[in-house]
Amino acid sequence: MSDHLTVVKHPLVQHKLTLMRRRETSTSEFRQLLREISQLLAYEITSELPLTNRTIETPLTEMEAPVLAGKKLALVSILRAGNGLLDGVLDLVPSARVGFVGLYRDEETLQPVQYYCKLPDALRDRLVIAVDPMLATGNSSVAAVDLIKDAGAKNIRFMCLLAAPEGIARMKEAHPDVQIVTAAVDEKLSDVGYIVPGLGDAGDRMFGTK
Ligand code: URA
Repeated sequence: MSDHLTVVKHPLVQHKLTLMRRRETSTSEFRQLLREISQLLAYEITSELPLTNRTIETPLTEMEAPVLAGKKLALVSILRAGNGLLDGVLDLVPSARVGFVGLYRDEETLQPVQYYCKLPDALRDRLVIAVDPMLATGNSSVAAVDLIKDAGAKNIRFMCLLAAPEGIARMKEAHPDVQIVTAAVDEKLSDVGYIVPGLGDAGDRMFGTK
């Protein structure tokens, strides 16, 4: 484990991930499991958020109590599969600001092309968590982080469910300052860019499309 890569080995994460990988897991089970894993990954990612003390009153007395310091977190979902991770993170951090980045792959150049980008303000002062379940080639993830940095973000984490070694290397090369937090690192990419052994197309499995 390096600063650039955190693999969350929590038994609940690993068990739920195995259920998600299985061919026979239904769309609704897949979506629910993804939500649960994203809560656990978010717990890990937010474990070092800075705190500050605030004076509050309990029913018995006044006290200095810890609250999160600084500006609200920003979550950026990389469409469309990123939306499957978003809800679980929002369960834990309901006040987070949320942005969306949409990219498609140009079939001739094979490069990601932006079709949508709407990001929260003041990204410079927020921890930004970009979410996309599959870090495969890394091309669209790197392009999404480019956009987030162009908008001023300085402190970015990339949350995914599965990562391929190729995607990790690509992200590290392009954005060495961005920590990747994932539930597992799989063996390789297939010839057509699927993560192997993987779980198939995450978007199709969570939305029931083909
Ligand atoms: N995107 C997916 O949904 N699955 C993969 O295996 C790779 C990219």
